[in-house]
Amino acid sequence: MKVLILEGSPRIKGNSSILCDEFERGAIESGCDVEKIHITRKKIGGCLGCDACQRNGGNCIQKDDMTEIKDKMIDADAIVLASPIYFYSMSSQLKALIDRTYAFYTKLESKTFYFIITCAAPDESYTKTMLDALHGFTCCVPNSIEGGTVIGTNSSNAGDVKQSKAMLEAYNMGKNIVNH
Ligand SMILES: Cc1cc2nc3c(=O)[nH]c(=O)nc-3n(C[C@H](O)[C@H](O)[C@H](O)COP(=O)(O)O)c2cc1C
Repeated sequence: MKVLILEGSPRIKGNSSILCDEFERGAIESGCDVEKIHITRKKIGGCLGCDACQRNGGNCIQKDDMTEIKDKMIDADAIVLASPIYFYSMSSQLKALIDRTYAFYTKLESKTFYFIITCAAPDESYTKTMLDALHGFTCCVPNSIEGGTVIGTNSSNAGDVKQSKAMLEAYNMGKNIVNH
């Protein structure tokens, strides 16, 4: 099973990345082939809304790192979308990536999506608006499955999430991935 982790925090060693590593550890133990990409290290322009991709078979006119990520997303069986909460929504880098799937999101049909979210807020109720945004994406992908969500709360500084029960939850979500 091929798993692609799209880690959307600009803090490369931050809380989102730490939870992604726990997920990855579990998934590898379950025999998955896992690739993790720090998307903030990639050049991904925002969607231009030109609709060229709708006329030309799904190819964006922007030639940037989304070309390689597109191929990896289409190739994956499961995709993890991870991001800190920024002003009650996802990071701009993850949002740009999601918007760029406008060119090919129908080709993600029937894949399983997992969400990993981190925030400074003390409880999960503060993550509703971000989850709504992520659901807004998956509900557009035909027959997509939401495999699970892990939320690391109380995590202001990089590394705070290590004290959280989200560490074990992320590991278990990765470990159980083959059961979906
Ligand atoms: C621009 C910005 C906006 C933020 N907005 C929120 C927010 O709305 N709610 C919240 O709980 N935390 C907010 N935070 C805190 C981050 O979500 C939190 O520190 C998270 O753990 C960072 O994850 P990372 O270490 O993976 O970068 C914000 C942080 C930044 C830098």
